[in-house]
Amino acid sequence: MSQEKTAVSAANRTFYIETFGCQMNVHDSEKVIGTLEQQGYTRVEDEEAADLILYNTCSIRDKAEQKVFHRLNDYKKLHAQGKRFAVLGCVAQQEGEKIFERAPYVSLVSGSASYRKLPEMLVQLEQGASRITGLDDRQTEETFETEFTARSNRHRGYITIIEGCDKFCAYCVVPYTRGKERSRTSTSVLAEAQRMADAGYTEIQLLGQNVNSYRDAEGRKSFAELLAAVGEISGIQRVRFTTSHPRDFTRDIVEAIDAVPSLCDHVHLPVQSGSSRVLHLMQREYTREQYLEHISWIKAAKRPISMTTDMIMGFPGETPKDFEDTVTLAAEVQYDGIFAFKYSPRPNTPAITMADSIPEEEKSMRLQILLDRQREIQRINYARHVGQTLEVMVEGHNSARGQVIGRTSQNKTLNFTTRQPILPAPGSYLKVLVTKSLPNSLVGEAID
Ligand code: 5AD
Ligand code: SF4
Repeated sequence: MSQEKTAVSAANRTFYIETFGCQMNVHDSEKVIGTLEQQGYTRVEDEEAADLILYNTCSIRDKAEQKVFHRLNDYKKLHAQGKRFAVLGCVAQQEGEKIFERAPYVSLVSGSASYRKLPEMLVQLEQGASRITGLDDRQTEETFETEFTARSNRHRGYITIIEGCDKFCAYCVVPYTRGKERSRTSTSVLAEAQRMADAGYTEIQLLGQNVNSYRDAEGRKSFAELLAAVGEISGIQRVRFTTSHPRDFTRDIVEAIDAVPSLCDHVHLPVQSGSSRVLHLMQREYTREQYLEHISWIKAAKRPISMTTDMIMGFPGETPKDFEDTVTLAAEVQYDGIFAFKYSPRPNTPAITMADSIPEEEKSMRLQILLDRQREIQRINYARHVGQTLEVMVEGHNSARGQVIGRTSQNKTLNFTTRQPILPAPGSYLKVLVTKSLPNSLVGEAID
């Protein structure tokens, strides 16, 4: 079927999309939305008003698949109204055709590694096909690129530089749900960044499950060089990147942050555990000492770089001593933020069959101890900013409190007041004097 005919048949069609999970999923949805709009669909904010309902799922933790099936049950009654359903994302890839068995009213199931085929899959949907699948698993070498990305924010936006993951950490479902690692060319990434700058974006966040494994197929740029090149585009004031894997973290990333002022002074470097023994069981391929060496590079940078991390509590076999190692590591690094999770067994992963599982109450207790200690660390870290003048990008307003919500280059929230009669617009940059600190945010006054 020709593109023209598709657009005609899809005209006046509406869609509603719900998204769960990480930034990669959020950005995938922006690309999916752009693809649908290009095919003639119109987005609506109410599922009752939609002809097509898309559900972009996450399966990183908990009983994600049960939650999805539970939600799909709600769709049963909507199906009676003639609506069609698509399940996308990590649960779609993980559960595959089982979704059709459990929810026969679903017409399309696709993992992220197949999104480049969405235009064809939408045509099949228009033609009335059922059980349409995009389940490429780990065969795909291609990336999903579109110039029609419907970004939800006009000032800062994501760019995917690498898809998939080849790391196979013992606890993690991502290598099974997002396919093989495949990088975009630096030419394509830089062209997208330039288009964003031309459209008025000032902040770009480069995305990948592991941005440090970025390999330019054209061989032109390393990850650090790409980062610097994006930061040098005229009009781009802030560049962030996530997520880094400590095994591949290289010193030239810190050197790039030193050399290019628009590269934000923040590194998110997930450690997962402070015990080398547990790191080995997790198949992370680095030790506590190696991780701390990377941290020492970051701490030696010319401007202070904020550090945050992810940690897992109660991985199978984690002893009280291993947990203590995690707590002491957090104290040694002095993170500005920790995303800590209780270990959750995931299908297909090596850890699911590992012995010595830790009781839920013990996991919760360890999590609480870690977070209590971390709160004190953050209280001290955030207090260091009092008296400093920091640049923020305005994100919005809290009218109830009469405050403007800003974000610093270090990715900290800075709520502030201004004496100007007109509140600064979202996306604008201002200098703010920090007057007070809390463990998770700063308070200040705009410098007029
Ligand atoms: N259980 C708990 N946390 C997990 N993460 C990934 N897989 C699991 C799991 N099975 C956490 C890791 C990762 C973050 C995105 O989610 O800390 O860095
Ligand atoms: Fe969730 Fe991981 Fe998939 Fe992101 S990649 S949506 S965090 S399972």
